Amino acid sequence: MNLIVYALFGLLFWTGACAEPELPVASPHQTVGTVNCASSTCHGAITPWEKSSVLQNEYTTWLRLDRHSQAYNVLLNEKSRNMAVALGLKQPASQSSLCLNCHTHNPPVTLRGERFVATEGVGCEACHGPAEQWIASHTAQGATHEDNVARGLYPTDRSVERARLCLSCHFGDDSRFVTHRMIAAGHPRLSFELGTFSVLAPAHYKTDVNGPRRKGDADALQAWAIGQAVASEQLLTVFANPKQGRDGLFPELALFDCNACHHRMSEKNYSPRLGLGPGRIHLNDSNLLMLRAIIALIDPAGSGAFNNQVSALHVAISSNASDQETVGLARTLSATIHRYLLQLEQGPVGLAESGPLLQSLINEAGADNYTDYADAEQAYMSISSLTAMLNHRSGLKNVAEINRHLALMRSALADQERYKPATFRLALAGLRAAMPGQEAGTEPDGRRNANGR
Ligand code: HEC
Ligand code: HEC
Ligand code: HEC
Ligand code: HEC
Repeated sequence: MNLIVYALFGLLFWTGACAEPELPVASPHQTVGTVNCASSTCHGAITPWEKSSVLQNEYTTWLRLDRHSQAYNVLLNEKSRNMAVALGLKQPASQSSLCLNCHTHNPPVTLRGERFVATEGVGCEACHGPAEQWIASHTAQGATHEDNVARGLYPTDRSVERARLCLSCHFGDDSRFVTHRMIAAGHPRLSFELGTFSVLAPAHYKTDVNGPRRKGDADALQAWAIGQAVASEQLLTVFANPKQGRDGLFPELALFDCNACHHRMSEKNYSPRLGLGPGRIHLNDSNLLMLRAIIALIDPAGSGAFNNQVSALHVAISSNASDQETVGLARTLSATIHRYLLQLEQGPVGLAESGPLLQSLINEAGADNYTDYADAEQAYMSISSLTAMLNHRSGLKNVAEINRHLALMRSALADQERYKPATFRLALAGLRAAMPGQEAGTEPDGRRNANGR
């Protein structure tokens, strides 16, 4: 009897430990408000504290430099006011949960502490989790990170959880999404790459400490790969959700390649790469394309099956397949991606080197794969993240030359409506030539790369 009880308890703890933690917005705990973190002896110092394990000027960095502190104010500007009118919202953008869900931390009214202020934008607790249960204990002697997490601190240090958190606003999730209608009303198109955006947001934490919780480059590579897998999963989740994946007669257009529709008729943009034939729209597959290169390295034997699942979904969407069938294919693909995500979470399996990955992303250009703006943009962000990692690890020689080609790639991407794949490919070819020992089709040590190209 006791044994069974123990076994049951064991199971409970085990599933508890493995369950995905709730995103801050879905936490059952009360939000206390950023002001509670802001005192100069807590996180509100003007300069970092020398002897502290954390910087202690986090609040100042966030308030002064981080766009997240302005995210609410954006809802008061003219663009937002016009959007609210165009969308026929009953309330102004600054009061509509359609907007507040991403532009502030917007917990249910019952979970707002006395000092909670909606206007503070994406504050500490929007990322670190409502602090009711951990605000007092997290500074106590001997408190561990695990104790804090058990009390509702969101584990931003874990790459999968961090990716899920950022993407919940920077792509969307079950509870919030920037639809094509919102984009047409004036919202910027969302695009995200975890590595790039982590660098873009001013760090209010130490990034170069080789402590047990921050492992440097291998982790950054793993985090990039995890970001691609999580983004692919979120795309499929929204696609498969009947409430989000459809807009009347049509699918949710924000999930598709924008320029499949938005381009001049005189420009023939049709690319045979997806095997769909001309005149078809297709899902924005930018993250899936990155994931393909990752899977080719970490599981060469399984990569054919993955590619087939992706193609099957593309084909089903543009043929007369039933909703049930396309959703089924999206779920199968999502399950496959989830298995890889678990594998990636175990460590940088087969990903120890950023060189081969970088090489295969660069080589994708040869296979006509950056014809879509979104694909090229994601490839650019990924390639620049990976190049930075490679440089950090082994010090690239001709950094100036590499930067020059990265800048050319960036300028090819400057205007989505005038994007010319050929210009982007030319810049990539220059980058390839500038990478030391990275001649086409070979890895630094002369082996053929994973794609065999
Ligand atoms: C799924 C989350 C999400 C929702 C919902 C959302 N936004 Fe945003 N919004 C963002 C993100 C993320 C950015 C920043 C994009 C970037 O820079 O990559 C942004 C940017 C903006 C910008 C441009 C900001 C600037 O500095 O130029 C405006 C304006 C804006 N949003 C208004 C709105 C309004 C109005 C609504 C409601 C109708 C809304 N947003 C709903 C996530 C969201
Ligand atoms: C947009 C999301 C976001 C917001 C907003 C945010 N943080 Fe962070 N914070 C992070 C991430 C990501 C990390 C680094 C990952 C990690 O190791 O936990 C981090 C790290 C930290 C750390 C270091 C943790 C450690 O153990 O080294 C502290 C302290 C911190 N944040 C405090 C704050 C405070 C205070 C605020 C509000 C003023 C704030 N953060 C706002 C995402 C955020
Ligand atoms: C609660 C929603 C939310 C979460 C969670 C969130 N963001 Fe944001 N983020 C926003 C919004 C909204 C903006 C736009 C703010 C503005 O324009 O003033 C933004 C802006 C940014 C910007 C500035 C973009 C630019 O164009 O300059 C970066 C970088 C960024 N976020 C990175 C991250 C990272 C990295 C994470 C995860 C650690 C994260 N964000 C988590 C909502 C969020
Ligand atoms: C299946 C085709 C299709 C796809 C895919 C698509 N759109 Fe649209 N888009 C349209 C149509 C149709 C309209 C309405 C045009 C009109 O009212 O004249 C529109 C309108 C717009 C508008 C407003 C322009 C206007 O004149 O009112 C913007 C901005 C926009 N789309 C951006 C995007 C972005 C960004 C994406 C990708 C995330 C995208 N679209 C994906 C078909 C598409």
